[in-house]
Amino acid sequence: MPNLYNRVARDITRDIERDIYRPGERLPGVRRLAQQYQVSIATALEACRLLEDQGRLEARLRSGFFVRLPIAEKVEEPAMSSPPKRPSLVKGQELALQLVKAANDPKLISFGAAVPTAQFLPLRAVNLAMGRALREHGTRAGQYEFPPGDINLRRQIARRMTEIGSPVDPEELIITNGCQEALGLALRAITQPGDVVAVESPAYYGLFQVIDFLGLKALEIPTHPREGISIEALEFALEQWPVKAVIAMPNFSNPLGGRMSDERKKALVKLLARKQIILIEDDIYGDLGFHGERPSVARGFDPNGETVIHCSSFTKTLAPGLRVGWIAPGRFQERIEYLKYVLNLATPTAPQLAIADLLERGGYDRYLRQARNEYEQAVTRMTRAVEKYFPEGTRVTQPDGGFVLWVEFPTGVDSEILYDKALAHGICIAPGPMFSATRKYRNFIRLNCAVPWEPRVEKALIKLGQLAGS
Ligand SMILES: Cc1ncc(COP(=O)(O)O)c(C=O)c1O
Repeated sequence: MPNLYNRVARDITRDIERDIYRPGERLPGVRRLAQQYQVSIATALEACRLLEDQGRLEARLRSGFFVRLPIAEKVEEPAMSSPPKRPSLVKGQELALQLVKAANDPKLISFGAAVPTAQFLPLRAVNLAMGRALREHGTRAGQYEFPPGDINLRRQIARRMTEIGSPVDPEELIITNGCQEALGLALRAITQPGDVVAVESPAYYGLFQVIDFLGLKALEIPTHPREGISIEALEFALEQWPVKAVIAMPNFSNPLGGRMSDERKKALVKLLARKQIILIEDDIYGDLGFHGERPSVARGFDPNGETVIHCSSFTKTLAPGLRVGWIAPGRFQERIEYLKYVLNLATPTAPQLAIADLLERGGYDRYLRQARNEYEQAVTRMTRAVEKYFPEGTRVTQPDGGFVLWVEFPTGVDSEILYDKALAHGICIAPGPMFSATRKYRNFIRLNCAVPWEPRVEKALIKLGQLAGS
């Protein structure tokens, strides 16, 4: 049987390569495929599922299997980063608020903030769930839901973490106001002003803002665009500096989109356990991989929560406005629960009830499947536009999940000057220096791909390419 569906998968691949089925086209239904390749319907379906896992096909709800658009092959990716080797206070993050505000301004094309536009989010399902929560638990929704937060929601999150190889009890989770609060709580619990924390380079700018706010220093560690933080460089840095914590995104990092293999995740956790240094894991994009199984989390290699503090949220999958995230604080449970209470007493109750209800009813995984496909298509289209419209010599990442691209222009292009010029044309981008404590990456930008593909978006990319080349 396995040989049979492998054979059918190979035949379908060959037909795709011969252009019989073209990128974006729908394959015949499985019944037809079964006849065509002279196998049972179950075998034809198995072959399609295999091709889906390999990233050749995409399953669309109630429509069947479609041939995926291939990622452009010509573009090169940026090299492993080489940030300064000393810890530094964070400089120049003031642009961030302007970027996030632009995401809500319909007059601007928002390639800046990594916020998906409404079309990418299941807002109907979210709003229905909110309505139900208010109707069915009206009195409760008006009450505080003190930390650790709604038990049904924690149960659902614990179930999902257990399914990906990181078993936690609901009692080991605390609901937060998004992942940003989770990261802040983790840092507050384990650092004092003046301490050094190691981060991937480049890293999510919101992280630098928390580091700055808490008076910490950031030590940027070389990071590979596909393989994640360099464990070798990190080990070397840990010998030189008194690092209190390492913050990393092992799955689909922002902005690089890299994904660490299980071996590398395991090695990272082992290194930090040996050195007794805490790993703060940000897994906010973990559910948004394009291919194969949902990846493991570093916390799964630290079953007793001695080394890893795991943070995530529903911001990228359900809606940023819900402001619901979580933290698995491991041995810092009590401290972080108390800090959460001191900071803002509680996370709003209604969104917690709504998300718990939405997860309990099922359908979230089906939605995720669709979202992953849509984000992948968006990333592919944007990659092609970069290849077509940006100056010769531009490099771009090839993320395996999430919805951002990290673009390296030829040296000489100044992304902050480009930012001003682009804004004058109604286009918002995120300049590279925001992704570094030391304002590196002057000739880089990050592009948010989760924007609807309209003619004005393509025109904006053409304009951006012209401005960068001028
Ligand atoms: C990598 C990363 N971590 C954390 C956050 C903050 O997420 P939340 O809206 O859940 O607070 C973001 C938001 O853009 C992000 O990209």
